[in-house]
Amino acid sequence: MIADPLTKPMHILLVDDNPNNLKVLSEAILGCGWKALMATDGESAIEQTEYAHPDLILLDVMMPGIDGFETCRRLKANPHTQNTPVIFMTALADATDKVKGLEIGAVDYITKPFQQEEVIARLKLHLKISHLTRTLEQRVQERTAQLTQSVRELQQTQLQLIQSEKMSTLGQLVAGIGHEINNPVGFISGNCSHIEQYVNDLLRLIHLYQEKLPHRDQDIDELVDEIDLDYITQDLPKLLASMAQGIDRLKEMSLSLRTFARSDISSKIEYQIHEGINSTLMLLKHRLKGNGVDAKRLVDRHRSKIEVVTQYSELPPITCYPGQLNQVFMNIIANAIDAFEECDRKHSAQQVVAQAKTITITTSVDTHKETVTICIQDNGPGMLPEVKARIFEPSFTTKPVGKGTGLGLAISHQIIVNKHNGQINCLSIPGQGTSFIITLPI
Ligand SMILES: Nc1ncnc2c1ncn2[C@@H]1O[C@H](COP(=O)(O)OP(=O)(O)OP(=O)(O)O)[C@@H](O)[C@H]1O
Ligand SMILES: [Mg+2]
Repeated sequence: MIADPLTKPMHILLVDDNPNNLKVLSEAILGCGWKALMATDGESAIEQTEYAHPDLILLDVMMPGIDGFETCRRLKANPHTQNTPVIFMTALADATDKVKGLEIGAVDYITKPFQQEEVIARLKLHLKISHLTRTLEQRVQERTAQLTQSVRELQQTQLQLIQSEKMSTLGQLVAGIGHEINNPVGFISGNCSHIEQYVNDLLRLIHLYQEKLPHRDQDIDELVDEIDLDYITQDLPKLLASMAQGIDRLKEMSLSLRTFARSDISSKIEYQIHEGINSTLMLLKHRLKGNGVDAKRLVDRHRSKIEVVTQYSELPPITCYPGQLNQVFMNIIANAIDAFEECDRKHSAQQVVAQAKTITITTSVDTHKETVTICIQDNGPGMLPEVKARIFEPSFTTKPVGKGTGLGLAISHQIIVNKHNGQINCLSIPGQGTSFIITLPI
């Protein structure tokens, strides 16, 4: 409900060079329980308006010095006085004067000689309108602020939704793949050692045959030549060794997938951050290594390898959502790789051999503040200040449509700041590189 403005004492500024008029008007105003302020010329009227803030001004047109119109123009041009309603008093029955007054910002006019009831009625009306206008403006401002806040909250919620959806679908998928690879890898690995044993046995047997039965048959000799038995005997153990290596890699990968995707969404657990960083690096391995000599011939597709340097301090386990933190590491490291690739793409024509591409990951602990800090630094192209200023905004991306959604860092920010009470900051210098510094409470 809007309170009736007329119940509190109003301040009305009367501006007239005729003392008699001032007297009559002020009596009428006092009769309503309001207060009358008085001025006898335009200049002092403006001055009083500025410091006394009257609720309304009754302004005479014809005055010595600046006239009522000019006074009104100056009041309307001044931000401190422009909202005070002005009513002109004119002795002239001339319609053009009335129109002129309204055009320069007056809300109404009254003609002399006054009819007291009419003056009071008009004053009441305009005081009410003025009050309603102010209330309305205030309401609009309040509503706008509320709406802006709601939009911000909605954006946050939307991010959260996208993030949890990404986490649950991607996380489940990754964990599922990790699990599915694990079983077959397990039995291949188990069989491999038996195969090695059997092959060695068979080779021993062949050697024994060769030794004990030196008078060989012609067919056997031919077959030995045909299959190149000597070569097979040499090569088979090597093949087996490299298969074993491949299987070890698969095992590692399956473990990384499962470590990475630990989607312990419902509660925080103690987690060794280095494990997460390592599993993330493992998953990004294919993007970190160069694409080899063959590809170098195809100038536009050349990609040199990215060196990863880890400088780990001894860290205590952190209470966190591991899957989410790993997603942050993934976003930041993938961005650095994207930035190197973009740089390669731009410079491929000139075949610039830049300095070695390096991503350095440093961790440290502050036992005093009980925080750990993870710094992920690249010596890539860096960002312009206007890009850097917007990187944490949802949907801000410099990548082509279909390549980047611009959500990576917005989600990372939310995970670090909102979910873990941490901080994430970025330093970047164009041409020199970028660092992301994450601080998390232990
Ligand atoms: N290491 C970096 N070097 C240079 N620019 C970067 C780096 N990291 C982020 N940026 C800039 O920040 C922008 C926003 O990154 P963000 O991860 O939020 O979105 P994106 O990578 O464009 O898209 P998405 O991660 O959803 O695929 C990028 O488009 C890029 O311009
Ligand atoms: Mg990204």
